[in-house]
Amino acid sequence: MTDLPNQLIDTLRTARHVVALTGAGVSQESGLNTFRDAQVGFWAQYRPEDLATPQAFERDPQLVWDWYAMRRTQARAAAPNPGHLALAEMASLFKSFTLLTQNVDGLHQRAGSPAVIELHGSIQNVRCASCSLHYDSWQETSGEVPHCPACAGLLRPNVVWFGESLPSAALQSALDATQACDLFFSIGTSGLVHPAASLAYAALEHGACLVEINATETPLTAHATHALTGSSGQLLPAILNAYHAAR
Ligand code: APR
Repeated sequence: MTDLPNQLIDTLRTARHVVALTGAGVSQESGLNTFRDAQVGFWAQYRPEDLATPQAFERDPQLVWDWYAMRRTQARAAAPNPGHLALAEMASLFKSFTLLTQNVDGLHQRAGSPAVIELHGSIQNVRCASCSLHYDSWQETSGEVPHCPACAGLLRPNVVWFGESLPSAALQSALDATQACDLFFSIGTSGLVHPAASLAYAALEHGACLVEINATETPLTAHATHALTGSSGQLLPAILNAYHAAR
């Protein structure tokens, strides 16, 4: 049985507005690489930071398209893990529950989370690099980078690359929920990439309780009200069980 601080469960029982921010660590137990894990196979020769940029796509669209196609195939073959499922159940426990994710794999939606704010977009759909039209499906001929049916421009993954702005509506919703929350979870994220990484500090600034769940220490750990070290696939169900047991 995971030993959780009593104060955390008390806080959870009285919380009204809860925000959970997730990163790649939440999908690690579904078998998906985190960003700062070493890449494997053919992709071991590349750093994600060197592929997830507009410049990389400009320079070699086929290479970038192939990397995301590999990740899309892996994400579709993966299953939501108990951490995703616990977060989906949490959505109905509070006056408001806002799930923010930096992940683009779509596993929160597949776990049943009713509303997911995808701060970094999704690999499940694409947009035209020229006219920005969005597509949920597209024609692919033998794996080549597909073209926009409207303008014949190259289609690209509908994700936020380094140096690009986050979707403004998603970011505004995230900021609003963070400002209003009394409990903020930071789960499975290294907290290195802004503006997502700044949300936890914004929650702390207005007095919210900050709970970090991570397999290792991060820059946020020292600031957390409760820093739980371990896997989100174990800790989130344990928190949920303790919440129900405390009723
Ligand atoms: N349970 C909890 N935490 C885990 C687990 C696990 N099973 N496995 C790994 N972690 C933690 C790692 O310790 C690390 O702190 O998850 C974190 C993953 O960090 P990153 O790989 O940096 O992923 P993330 O924080 O989501 O990256 C943020 O950076 O590269 C950009 O846009 C990309 O969305 C990504 C953003």
